[in-house]
Amino acid sequence: MPQIQDATVPAEAKSSNSVPTAAREVIIQTNGLNKTYRPAFSRTGKIALHSLTIDVRRGEIFGLVGPNGSGKTTTLKTLLGLIKPTGGSVEIFGRGPRDVAVKQRIGFLPDGPYFYDHLNSYEVLDFYGKLFGYSKEVRRQKSEEILDMVGLNKADRNRVIRTYSKGMMQRVGLAQALLNDPDLLFLDEPTTGLDPIGAREMKDTILRVRDAGKTVLLCSHLLADVQAICDRVAILSEGKLVKFGTVPELVGPSQHFEIFAEGFSDAALSKAQTMNLPFERENGHIKFEAQSSEGLQTVLRFINDQNARTLDVKGYSETLEDVFVRSVKSDGRG
Ligand SMILES: Nc1ncnc2c1ncn2[C@@H]1O[C@H](COP(=O)(O)OP(=O)(O)OP(=O)(O)O)[C@@H](O)[C@H]1O
Ligand SMILES: [Mg+2]
Repeated sequence: MPQIQDATVPAEAKSSNSVPTAAREVIIQTNGLNKTYRPAFSRTGKIALHSLTIDVRRGEIFGLVGPNGSGKTTTLKTLLGLIKPTGGSVEIFGRGPRDVAVKQRIGFLPDGPYFYDHLNSYEVLDFYGKLFGYSKEVRRQKSEEILDMVGLNKADRNRVIRTYSKGMMQRVGLAQALLNDPDLLFLDEPTTGLDPIGAREMKDTILRVRDAGKTVLLCSHLLADVQAICDRVAILSEGKLVKFGTVPELVGPSQHFEIFAEGFSDAALSKAQTMNLPFERENGHIKFEAQSSEGLQTVLRFINDQNARTLDVKGYSETLEDVFVRSVKSDGRG
């Protein structure tokens, strides 16, 4: 389903950093990463990642998307040093993922975060603050600031986590991930369980984190959001990288245009017909359609030659969802 290009890829949502993404420092580098989950005493296993090579650059929001079971969480866990790859290599800030200096600089919101549920949100953050070695005063101040930032209501902060809704839990999870002011934030399905307002707030928070100079690796099934906020996107299918690039590289330029105009004589409209320029009347205006930028130029020239007026031009392009479905299907799924 085509969408209006400008509405789905707001330029202001993209990185404000003037240095092109490809020229920035590499924050994450994987080379030929493989992961096979092998049950104990079994010769065969499940190949979850197959020769994955990606780089994530400083200051970008990098989207990792793919169908269920395509290897997103496995990638994240490997990057975080939580599971060991079966082959290939991972570097974060030029070091191994288990390096303590790396751990200090990263934050992680897992898919479905889990905390001791007899604690309230202050106590959860206090617990993690201690692990980072913060003083009591710093822990108190940071907790308050970050809970404000993630939008957890003040009234809910003193309740025990057991009584929280999914969305509240997700906010505490994000607060925990942001507690150490990380340079690199890993988010695994951050909008799970959030209502539309919560999902919008999550998106805004991710953009604020990026605008503060941080790097974000985001796994999400919400492809419209990924398209709107990510600088580059990797599409995985069955553990393999099937597409990788900036959003404009993946979705391509507009392929379909609607041109709204007025002020035509009957003779001008007859001429449009003889020139094979398709049009229809819509709300008192004439709407032309073109399927290429050359076609668009032809229509604009025609309007000008007829001394009519162009009112509006809308460009439609593929969405990330279209690209996703096509890539995953051509990889043998669906
Ligand atoms: N601990 C495990 N043991 C065995 N197989 C596993 C394990 N964890 C994941 N897998 C398998 O590895 C593959 C990739 O799983 P992964 O969780 O990385 O996918 P995902 O892309 O995050 O999926 P989703 O969108 O559902 O979160 C799947 O086939 C999954 O069943
Ligand atoms: Mg997952």
